[in-house]
Amino acid sequence: MKALEGVRVLDMTHVQSGPSATQLLAWLGADVVKLESITGDITRQQLRDLPGVDSLYFTMLNCNKRSITLNMKSERGKEIFTELVKQSDVLVENFGPGAVDRMGFTWERLQELNPRLIYASIKGFGPGRYRAFKAYEVIAQAMGGSMTTTGFEDGPPLATGAQIGDSGTGIHAVAGILAALYQRQTTDRGQRVQVAMQHAVLNLARVKLRDQQRLAHGPLREYPNKTFGDEVPRSGNASGGGQPGWAVRCAPGGPNDYIYVIVQPVGWKPISEIIGRAELADDPEWATPEARLPKLDKMFQLIEEWTIRHDKWTVLDKLNAANVPCGPILSTKELIEDESLREEGMVVAVDHPERGEFLTVGSPLQLSDSPVEVRTSPLLGEHNQEIYGELGVSPDELAELKTNGVI
Ligand code: COA
Repeated sequence: MKALEGVRVLDMTHVQSGPSATQLLAWLGADVVKLESITGDITRQQLRDLPGVDSLYFTMLNCNKRSITLNMKSERGKEIFTELVKQSDVLVENFGPGAVDRMGFTWERLQELNPRLIYASIKGFGPGRYRAFKAYEVIAQAMGGSMTTTGFEDGPPLATGAQIGDSGTGIHAVAGILAALYQRQTTDRGQRVQVAMQHAVLNLARVKLRDQQRLAHGPLREYPNKTFGDEVPRSGNASGGGQPGWAVRCAPGGPNDYIYVIVQPVGWKPISEIIGRAELADDPEWATPEARLPKLDKMFQLIEEWTIRHDKWTVLDKLNAANVPCGPILSTKELIEDESLREEGMVVAVDHPERGEFLTVGSPLQLSDSPVEVRTSPLLGEHNQEIYGELGVSPDELAELKTNGVI
């Protein structure tokens, strides 16, 4: 048994935000049927590394799903969709605003067809002034508080590499869908779940709105910045939280030879000893967090004078031995080769029928009674026969539907 065994998800998602959500649902045990246009999710063809083979963009976001094709703009396609909706527990989509309504399936119509249906939509924005706009990852980062707070004070706003706008929103959508499934057990009714990428990023940037309000009462002393206006400034690698931290350079000085070090109040004594400046542990100029706060840049400079002489793994070992929280900056190459991530099932090899073996990122949700087995993404329309057969479509009609461009 898997946690979501018996839950049927009709997955009309494409690109990243929606597919990241339905992939998690599949890993939790739902039967996810990905409904694609007859040309398929555009990401099957985007960023291709091998000619004619589904891209890694697609395969890494669509594991453990089945695929059917259906032309939603044909009359027969709409009829078949109606049957699929009646059999599904959850419908998920992330088209541009209004696309499903234009296909003829408003929320009211879907409820009529299946009152137990949970209908989840991911859009760029909520129902306010931006509602009609399309959105991609970095647009959500731009409008959700991430870009304004990422980067250095004297540089432009920056996008972050983690896809908080797409996959971050996908995770929020999963939370909403699971809650709706749970509530349905008592109400016996489905409901509408709506998640906006701007909202999800803002949720993740929550602490920066905390700091915006703190600014009204004076400078943000935990930030490395020297001057403050009326907006939270970009603060480089400082989190601006209660414990100061910074990325300091390590040997031999390559682009990822850095380690992020956090100086907790109890950490200063062991750090000062490790860096060979034991006298600073009791020096009133350095001994307390308050004394260090106005000169965090100097403090991290002292730490860097030691780290620059060692590689990041040695620094990791030495600081951790003294219980000092720190994290080396791991490159994508180091991550994909990391043995512990392989052992933990977070970097997984999957066999694909056309591309052979590829690596993907496994499920970050580990449930003791619902283990995850990562299986390949489906080929386009691979399960047409299986799923339409279950609906009572005969092999002859199936061939006809194909000829007529319905599937
Ligand atoms: N059969 C027939 N037509 C289909 C179909 C199917 N199975 N599936 C989709 N389509 C059509 C839709 O009906 C729509 O047509 P219409 O505009 O004539 O009504 C069109 O394909 C899809 O439109 P849209 O989703 O707007 O695609 P796009 O490529 O122009 O925009 C996004 C892509 C991502 C910008 C847009 O989908 C969006 O803003 N999504 C919400 C936010 C989001 O998830 N963004 C992150 C993506 S990672």
